[in-house]
Amino acid sequence: MAAIAERAQRRAEPVARALPRRRTGLRAGIFGLGTASPTHVVTNQDLEQRLDTTDEWIVRRTGIRERRHLQGAETLTDLATTACALALADAGRDAAEVDQIIVSTITPDRLTPGVAPGVARDLGAHRASAVDVNAACAGFLYALDQAAALVESGRAGVVLVCGAEALSRITDHADRGTAVLFGDGAGAVVVAGGDLDIGVGGFVLGADGDQGDLLYAERDAPKLRMHGAEVYRHAVRRMTEATRIALERAGLTIDDLDLFVAHQANARIIETAAHELGLPSEKIVCNVDAMANTSSASIPLALAEAERDGRLHPGAKVGLAAFGAGFVWGAGIVSVKERVHVCA
Ligand code: ACO
Repeated sequence: MAAIAERAQRRAEPVARALPRRRTGLRAGIFGLGTASPTHVVTNQDLEQRLDTTDEWIVRRTGIRERRHLQGAETLTDLATTACALALADAGRDAAEVDQIIVSTITPDRLTPGVAPGVARDLGAHRASAVDVNAACAGFLYALDQAAALVESGRAGVVLVCGAEALSRITDHADRGTAVLFGDGAGAVVVAGGDLDIGVGGFVLGADGDQGDLLYAERDAPKLRMHGAEVYRHAVRRMTEATRIALERAGLTIDDLDLFVAHQANARIIETAAHELGLPSEKIVCNVDAMANTSSASIPLALAEAERDGRLHPGAKVGLAAFGAGFVWGAGIVSVKERVHVCA
């Protein structure tokens, strides 16, 4: 009993260890970025037509102005495949080089098989293994952590990580409390090894199954239900805590971060977390206005947005943080397309 209590105590108060910063040697890095979004746009004005809500309320409480939804026969597999193909092209890699594809999703096209095997088929990644992970809105960080571990252990050379979601499929479109929040989309990165300073640094990941009833969708009635205010509170707390620990482990301070890309659920959550961390607004990436909450697709979609607007440059130190149903959460420091050191 004493041992269990002691373990629980250790778990409740994570102690950050400053890991030695590696200057040379194989480290996993992100070498390509690709995204895909449905063409069908649902604006706040569209929602005003059928729900007891207003554009003003939605923008003020969430920052969301529009979201994209898959239509009719459109599939998540197609969306994920497009994002992965663009990420591979961006990295200058071929599908035949991919060792594993990890798709993070809570909204696969079918209960089984998962999305990842179909993506491998459609990409022509014939020698890749393929697996889906479900860690809700934190899924992209969980998948990225697994990909980095595969690469750094030598078990894989090239791993595709894709966050792909069709949350419109599990949204109760008659409930104004949740119908305004969710969108669909996909974003992918190519993870491979290199002699890097930052790469995909170690992630701080966590889970608290006691809070599972605050945000969930039942199998028999698969619509997202949540206690919004509680989710909000926990999201801010967990993302700030995890980011502080990730910085400490990396031997960095908040001032060393060039950008902060948090899960895009609500602009107020992102701003509050960034404020508590002491980050100025110019370092925050927020595209929730155009995409709404796309769960595990939101971080790669936001990274791509930051690259398009010129804020994400090679070697920039980017803080990633996410929080979702479970509860599960995570944070880590990464760079994107960091230059590989070449030995003289
Ligand atoms: N339009 C107008 N009024 C609304 C709407 C709407 N769309 N939705 C709710 N309201 C009303 C409520 O009925 C309530 O009215 P009342 O006071 O008369 O009862 C009032 O607005 C306030 O409701 P709250 O829920 O307290 O509003 P809050 O300021 O907390 O904002 C929100 C709600 C936006 C959902 C917020 O709590 C939030 O963003 N929570 C986090 C959500 C999140 O991060 N989810 C992430 C995970 S999703 C996943 O993992 C797949």
